[in-house]
Amino acid sequence: MTFTELNTPQRTIMTPGPVEVDPRVLRAMSTPILGQFDPAFTKIMNEVMEMLRQVFKTSNKWAFPVDGTSRSGIEALLCSVIEPGDKVLVPIFGRFGHLLTEICERYGAEVHTIECPWGEVFDQEVVIEEIKKIQPKVTAMVHGETSTGCMQPLELIGAACREMDILFIVDAVASIGGVDIRVDDWFIDGLIGGTQKCLSVPSGMSPITYNHRIERVISARKKVERGISTEEDRKSELDMRHPMVKSNYLDLSMLQDYWGPRRLNHHTEATSMLYALREGLRIVLQEGLEERFDRHAYHERALIAGIEAMGLDLYGERSSKLTTVTCIKVPQGIDPEAVRGMLLDEFGVEIAKSFGPLEGKIWRIGTMGYSCRKENILYTLSALEAVLIRHNAPIKIGQSLQATLDVYSEKYTPNKVTS
Ligand SMILES: Cc1ncc(COP(=O)(O)O)c(C=O)c1O
Repeated sequence: MTFTELNTPQRTIMTPGPVEVDPRVLRAMSTPILGQFDPAFTKIMNEVMEMLRQVFKTSNKWAFPVDGTSRSGIEALLCSVIEPGDKVLVPIFGRFGHLLTEICERYGAEVHTIECPWGEVFDQEVVIEEIKKIQPKVTAMVHGETSTGCMQPLELIGAACREMDILFIVDAVASIGGVDIRVDDWFIDGLIGGTQKCLSVPSGMSPITYNHRIERVISARKKVERGISTEEDRKSELDMRHPMVKSNYLDLSMLQDYWGPRRLNHHTEATSMLYALREGLRIVLQEGLEERFDRHAYHERALIAGIEAMGLDLYGERSSKLTTVTCIKVPQGIDPEAVRGMLLDEFGVEIAKSFGPLEGKIWRIGTMGYSCRKENILYTLSALEAVLIRHNAPIKIGQSLQATLDVYSEKYTPNKVTS
C-alpha cells in the first residue's frame, strides 16, 4: 500500500466549527520550533497572555491556553475548582450544558440542573432564583450554545453570583471572537474559549481566563497536597479539607507555575499551536473587537435574508439567536443527510446537523471567523438552493441570492484587517 502526499479536497466550511483557518495562521504554523524555555519562546507566551486578556476584556492575571480541544479548558477549570461533594448549578439549554454537567459529576460534584426548552434561553431571574435556592459553590453555564444556535444573557447572573460569593464559570467556546463577551463587566470568574470557531485557528488549544477568586481556591488545594505549605497552613483544619486535583495534566496550579514567572516544567508546550493562536489573536485585535462583532452580525443578516427568501424557516427564538450559528428547520419530507451529502459531494460545502432532540430536524450554518465572508455566504446559499431544488423541496426559486445581495448593497465599512 502506498501512502500519497496529503492532498485534501477544497472545502467551504460553514459549520459551527472547526471552520476555515485564516491563511495567516497557517503560515504562522510553519514557523520553526523553539525550545519551550527559550526566552524567544517565553516572550511569545507572554504576548499570547496579553492578547487573550484583551480579547476576553479582562484585567485578570491568568489568561493562557490549555493544550487540548476546548473541553480541556472546561475540564481544567472545573476539576481545579470542584472538590468532591461541592454543589454546582448547571442551567442547561442545549447539548453543551450536558457536557458541563457530566464533567462536574465526574469530579464528584453534587450537580443541580435546571433546563429550558431547546431553542430558548433562560430568563436570568429564573437562574438567579435557583442560585438563591441551591446556594452552590459554582454556577457553570454556556454562553453560545452551538447545538441550538442560542445565546444566553449573562450579566445579571454574574452580578448575582458575585453578590452571593458564588463562582461563575462560563463556556464561551463558540462565541469568543465573534460576539461581545465581557469577563470583568459581567462578573465572570472563569471563562473558556475555543480556537477552532470564531478565532479561525485549528482545534487543539483552549484559551481560558480566571480571576483571584478562583486562584484562591486553586492555591488552597495546592499548598496541602504538594507539601509546600507552611507549618501554620499544615495545622489549619480548613486547608486539610481541600483534596488534591485529580488530574495532573489539567491542574491549574501546575499550569500557573508553568505560564507564570516561575516557569516550572510541566507539559511540553504545543509550539506550533501557540504560534497559530498568537496569529489568530493578532488578526482579531487588528480587525478590532467591535468591528469584528459587527462583521459577524452583518454576514449573519445577509445569510438569514437569503434563507428566508428561499422560504425556509429558522429554528429558535430570534431574540436569543447566537450571531455565529444559524439553525434552519429541515422542510417536511426532505432527507437532511442527503442534502448535506450532496452539498459536500457536489459543491464542497459543509454545513452541520445537530444533536439529541434536534438530530434530523435542523441544519446548522456557522458564520465564524475566516469562514464568515461574503463569497462563502453567497456560494453556500446558491449551493443550498440548487440541492433543495434537486430534492423537490418546496422553496421559492431565484430569490435567495437577490435578498442576500440586497443586504450586501447596504452601506458597510469593511473590516480593517491588514497583514
Ligand atoms: C459551546 C461548546 N462547548 C464545548 C465544546 C467542546 O469543544 P471541543 O470539541 O473542542 O472539545 C464545543 C464544541 O463544539 C462547543 O460548541
